[in-house]
Amino acid sequence: MLRNTTPKPKTRLLRAFAAILVCASLGSNRIAAFAQAKDPILVGHYASTSGAEATFGKSTDNGILMAVAERNAAGGVKGRPLQVITYDDQGKQSEAATVVTRLITKDKVVALLGEVASSRSLAGGRLAQRYGIPMVTPSSTNPEVTKIGDMIFRVCFIDPFQGEVCAKFAMQRGWKKAAVLYDKTQAYSTGLNTNFTESYPKLGGTIVARETYGGGDSDFGAQLTNIRAAAPDVIFIPGYYSDVGNIAIQARKLGLAMPLLGTDGWDSSKLAETAGNVLEGCCFSNHYSHEEARPAVKDFVEKYKARFGGETPDGLAALGYDAALVLFAAMDRAPSLAGRDIAKELAATKEFAGVTGTITIDSGRNANKSAVMLEFKQGQWRYAATIEPDGK
Ligand code: PHE
Repeated sequence: MLRNTTPKPKTRLLRAFAAILVCASLGSNRIAAFAQAKDPILVGHYASTSGAEATFGKSTDNGILMAVAERNAAGGVKGRPLQVITYDDQGKQSEAATVVTRLITKDKVVALLGEVASSRSLAGGRLAQRYGIPMVTPSSTNPEVTKIGDMIFRVCFIDPFQGEVCAKFAMQRGWKKAAVLYDKTQAYSTGLNTNFTESYPKLGGTIVARETYGGGDSDFGAQLTNIRAAAPDVIFIPGYYSDVGNIAIQARKLGLAMPLLGTDGWDSSKLAETAGNVLEGCCFSNHYSHEEARPAVKDFVEKYKARFGGETPDGLAALGYDAALVLFAAMDRAPSLAGRDIAKELAATKEFAGVTGTITIDSGRNANKSAVMLEFKQGQWRYAATIEPDGK
């Protein structure tokens, strides 16, 4: 009787009162079970769905929503439907902290998904750890994020590996002299500057210039002029797509014709839209390519296109989907939805078959996975290579 849908307010009150009386005779544990049997399980997602990195948040949210829809169609988790509450942090670190606090203290989510950008995951992650709410970042690659503590996980590789991948790829292409241009305001970018600088000389490369910018800057003329004087074979730019687009356009105007080499922060359809005419031969490392022949990729791309009006899923959509499914699988196995129990099962994730590869969470709460290189050819990002971590 209590499961009838949409009773009138007065009837609802009476029923709630009756339920309390029934529960009172059942004991406290069973009260919770009785009252919540079909309530949705709330999961929070914090993301940049507006601002300079809006495609990061939107793609990730799409991937998460698709995972939720699939799990709900298959009965949800523990017999309850899943519900995701997504808040926009506008791409701002302070806002990330605000919305994570709201998700935890007001909405009472049992777990968090997010963020994409490492600096924002650092801000949100510290709060998640403090409140004991498990967080899975789909795509933040800076090592410091999971070092926050035992509540913080990721389903992607980390930047010491990504920096090495780019160094290896540069040497494979015969780019022996590199300039580095990085965003000094982002943990992601400063970290990759360090990681690339550690790997590249070991492989025989030389860094001939190093310049910085601040995310959102509009004029990169001074830095690019310095880089031009050093005559590198390649410019390594571990930044986010909106800045990279402006940098690429300005570099070509200044006569810098060498390839630009980037990292996962380039992954947005907006980059080709704004700078497509100057990107030929440029490459970046990423977590997946929609062109990969793996059946899991084909299946995902097809389903995603059908759901989102023919849109091709980027790496963030795939990682959002994987992160959500890894979290839900941990919830399935956990004896309860208490933070500690979910975190314990997240840590035990082994050989999870994801779209972005096989996910095993290691002792540092990271995933050891391969990277792909993409190359811009005739107006499109094409799959160029897969680079495995050492020992795989
Ligand atoms: N790895 C980036 C970071 O840590 C985020 C990112 C991942 C962006 C994948 C695009 C694609 O900030």
